[in-house]
Amino acid sequence: MRSTDSFPDRYGKNSYALVTGGTDGIGLAYCKELAKLGFNIIIVSRSLDKLANSKAELEKLCPGRDVRTVQFDFNEHQSIDAYKTRIMEHIKDLDISLLIQNAGYAETGPFKDVPMEEHQRLMNVNCVPASLLTKLLLDKMRARAKNGIRSGMIFLSSVAAVAPMPGFQTYSATKVYNDFLAKGLWFENKACIDVMSHRPAYTSTKMTGLRESLTVVSPEASVKAALPDLPYENETYGPLVHEATGWFMRKLNELVPGFINNKLFQMSKKIWAKNQKKK
Ligand SMILES: NC(=O)c1ccc[n+]([C@@H]2O[C@H](COP(=O)([O-])OP(=O)(O)OC[C@H]3O[C@@H](n4cnc5c(N)ncnc54)[C@H](OP(=O)(O)O)[C@@H]3O)[C@@H](O)[C@H]2O)c1
Repeated sequence: MRSTDSFPDRYGKNSYALVTGGTDGIGLAYCKELAKLGFNIIIVSRSLDKLANSKAELEKLCPGRDVRTVQFDFNEHQSIDAYKTRIMEHIKDLDISLLIQNAGYAETGPFKDVPMEEHQRLMNVNCVPASLLTKLLLDKMRARAKNGIRSGMIFLSSVAAVAPMPGFQTYSATKVYNDFLAKGLWFENKACIDVMSHRPAYTSTKMTGLRESLTVVSPEASVKAALPDLPYENETYGPLVHEATGWFMRKLNELVPGFINNKLFQMSKKIWAKNQKKK
């Protein structure tokens, strides 16, 4: 049975885990799990009040951990200069061992109807930090190997990367981006960094608005099942039920081409129409 017991020795005691979008859902669950293992935490996220609340929650959960927060809106700032001055400047002296590229959100609707600005925003938030923040941290994380310790990176992809998703096209394409980025980085850096793509299926977070059920898991359950795979795999779905969802979607797409596409497209049209009425 895999566990995270080896993580402090493997990645370095008292080092920092940087989690983007760590104020809610899956990102917050990563922060809690890593803080419990002894890692100090840096959260890079958008809302100041949520950053303060998450910091307080983590400090209460794990007294003694250093919890830093960096307010940064990945949609508002996309220049390399902004990443350097508004993020890196605040964390340049910290020993960062783990990077969880989690910030993200979804938008649904027929491609022709979703406004251009929304497609742009999805790429700004779901893709740009995955490449830029990694590039800015990579050399330092690789250099830790000189002291005999490894580093780790997790990229939040999705089961949406398994098959094309009409009605969620730009979102699912951004999740393929995260998945491919993780796997390329895994190959290039496997001598010193563990890199993994985490591909959750439905999880009960603000992004989905879903309640827990047989197939919808809590963010904590997703993270608890995914994290132990980091030293071993370059891809995980997390809990067994999400592993099964991924397998089922892949098979269905192979055996009945177009079935998933059609179902999702119909569903997205309904969601789009409902959301338009609300506006
Ligand atoms: N939930 C699922 O079913 C599911 C399934 C597959 C993959 N995923 C992936 O898992 C990741 C987390 O999703 P979640 O469901 O946990 O979402 P969530 O509960 O909505 O949390 C998203 C986090 O990202 C932050 N964020 C959003 N926009 C941002 C921006 N422009 N700049 C900086 N931070 C921003 C949010 O901060 P604010 O609160 O300030 O907005 C929040 O901390 C995403 O990448 C998503 O694609 C989720």
